[in-house]
Parts: sequence; C-alpha cells; structure tokens
Amino acid sequence: MPVVVEPDHVIADALLRSLPPGTQAVPDTGRVHGWMSQHPDEYVMLIGPSVPFSDALEACDGLRLTRPAASVVLVRDEVSTDTFARAVAAGAREVVPSGSPENVAAAVDRAYRLFSALRGAASAGPNEGKVITVWSPKGGVGKTTMAVNLGLALAEKGARRVCLVDLDLAFGDVSITMQLFPTHSIEHAIGSEDAIDTALLDGLLTPHQDSMMVLAAPSHPDVRDRISATLISQVIRTLRQTFDFIVVDTAPALDEQTLTALDETDEICIVATLDVPTLKNVKVALETLDMLNIAPDHRHLLLNRADDEVGISADRVEGILGMRPEARIATSMDVAAATNAGKPIVVRNPHHPISLAVAEMASQLAGQRVAPPRGEAVAAPATAAPARGFWKRR
Ligand SMILES: Nc1ncnc2c1ncn2[C@@H]1O[C@H](COP(=O)(O)OP(=O)(O)O)[C@@H](O)[C@H]1O
Ligand SMILES: [Mg+2]
Repeated sequence: MPVVVEPDHVIADALLRSLPPGTQAVPDTGRVHGWMSQHPDEYVMLIGPSVPFSDALEACDGLRLTRPAASVVLVRDEVSTDTFARAVAAGAREVVPSGSPENVAAAVDRAYRLFSALRGAASAGPNEGKVITVWSPKGGVGKTTMAVNLGLALAEKGARRVCLVDLDLAFGDVSITMQLFPTHSIEHAIGSEDAIDTALLDGLLTPHQDSMMVLAAPSHPDVRDRISATLISQVIRTLRQTFDFIVVDTAPALDEQTLTALDETDEICIVATLDVPTLKNVKVALETLDMLNIAPDHRHLLLNRADDEVGISADRVEGILGMRPEARIATSMDVAAATNAGKPIVVRNPHHPISLAVAEMASQLAGQRVAPPRGEAVAAPATAAPARGFWKRR
C-alpha cells in the first residue's frame, strides 16, 4: 500500500484521493525508514510538494539501497530539468507535477508493476504462501477466535505476511472480533472474478495494527449468494502470491463456498469441542471430507474448551474421531476478555498457556505435519473407544 509523506493536511488529502484505499500519510520523512522496515510489501512512497527538496533527496538516497524494489515518486510544484536530474540521481523513480492526480495514479501503478515484477523474479518457483483454513461444522466452537489468534501467532508481530480472510460470508465477525472498521470487503470484488490481481485485492484489505491484513466478510448477509466459487478461488490464489500465510475463517457449513476454500487449502484446522452434538457433526463431516478426498493428510484437530468435559473426556476424542487432537485449548475467561478488549490473547498475553498452545499449533500448521498419520491414530487401541459404541450410548 502506498505511503504519502506530506506535512500539509489539505495537500495530503488531495493526494490520498488519487491513491488506493488504505494508503497512509505521514507528515515528514523522519519516520520513513522505520515505516519501510515494518512494511516489506510497501512498494511506493510519494513525497509531497511541501517536503523540502533536500529531505526528499535524502529519503530517496536512503531507500535506494535498503529497498531497491520500492519506488520513490516525488510530487513537485515545479519540475525543472535540474529538479528532475537531481531527483533521479538520488534514486527517485519519477517526478510528477503537483495538481495532476492522474499522473500520480499512473506513477503509483507503474511502481506497483515494477515491484511485482522484481519480487516475482526473486521468488519464482514454489514460494507461494500457505493457506490454512479453520473450519468446524458447528457454530460457536471458537473458529473465529482461533483463526484470529492463529493468524496473529503466525504473523509474529509483522515478521511474516499474513492475511486473514473472513469466509463466514453471511455472519462473518472477524472485523468486530478485531475491532476493525473495514471500508471494503470481499463484496467489492464481485464482478471482477476475471480481473482479480494483487492490486485489486490490496485495495480491499484492512490492516490490523502492523501485524496482519484482513479481508472482511460482506456487511450484509444477502451478499453471500453473490460470492461465487470462482471468486473465492481467485481471491485465495491471488493472496498466495503476496502473503506467507493466508488464514481462512469459515462458516459452520460444507456449502459450495466452503468446499471451494477447502479445495484451495494446504492445511485444515478442524475445531471441535467436547459436547456430543459437536463431536457427532465433526465425525460426519470428516466422513464427508473423506468421500470428497479433501486434504486427507492435511487435517489437524484443535480441541477447544478441552477442559469442559460434558460427559466425554478429551482422551476419548481420538477414538471417536480417529484423529489425535494436536492442540488442546482450555476454557478461559481471558480469551473472551482479550477479544472484547480488541487485543486477542496471543497479543495481549503471549505467555498465557492458551497463547502458548495456539503458537504451538500455529507452528505445526506452518511447518511439516507432525501428527501421526490418520491410520495410526485410528488404530491406537489404548484410547480408541469404538465409535459405534460411543454413538450407541446416546
Ligand atoms: N477457549 C475459550 N475460552 C473461553 N471462551 C472462548 C474460548 N474459545 C472461544 N470462546 C468464546 O466463545 C464464543 C464463540 O467463539 P467464536 O470464535 O466466535 O466461535 P465460532 O467462530 O466457531 O462461531 C466467543 O464469545 C469466544 O470469545
Ligand atoms: Mg465465527
């Protein structure tokens, strides 16, 4: 997302109007290096006409070696041959006269293409981001809570690029959970299915502090039906090109949209709780995933509220579901309190046992699968109560 350096608010606002939504403005070049080091995806800096020319040249010079793929575009009231020559010599990519928003927008577009081409060349090959989908056939089990916390754990305070996609398309609550107020959502990509690219998606993302991006769900439930499977797969495939991890929060369903997301997914984090209806539904859902051959070796079970033993102990879950829970997250008021305070628990209290368990799960999802293969888990006799016996008990 571009960043504008301009001390005059009126001029800064005018520049922002010709730039993609989400563009930030800062008043001086002093904070530029800090900003750029925290934003590895920053592809262009626009230096406004009120910034002293010497400061602008210094900023160009500083970024030339530290961030060669990012462009600096100078906006100047007067563009003389001398101004132009000195700016280019300092490392500016372009000098644009002020008062021409279309030239500013075109320069930003060129900067973006250059950045993509350079980065594409640098990361050609199988360097695409990993898609992790958090799913459960039941609502209220902690999908959103876990998706948000897993995303933040993966982001490691901005060290890795993470995008959280809210695919609970009718009742998505990622934004409210993170206290974000998105101006755009996946809804704004409807109709552009064939033209989705990184630039388009960039304009639809909402940053969560400096740590990760969020693609919000539509603000109205009716919109869900207009989000096609093609749109979902294009969005996910495009996000893969720029993010290290794409964490997808989902609706408690196996509808076409969710199945599309699961098809695009590298690792599925299935959330279960210890109540009988949830375990029954998870079991049936796993059989459906088996039938559809969806990610057979890439499913990970997260047991949330694992201490809420309402008749079934956590140790029996493996026998019932044929999967060993890779994470057991206890029930804690701290989880909801952190969420309500707008700071999910992994950020608010990284040493909390729940944060540590989430971080451990995040590293399992990020790296190689460490759980025993599914067949072994089913066969484990010590904990495996026959599934049929369990259902008979009900
Ligand atoms: N481990 C936990 N301890 C306490 N409360 C939790 C825990 N996990 C989730 N919650 C709370 O349960 C509620 C439902 O969680 P949510 O993540 O929205 O579920 P889902 O997305 O599956 O519908 C929220 O109020 C959340 O704060
Ligand atoms: Mg949810």
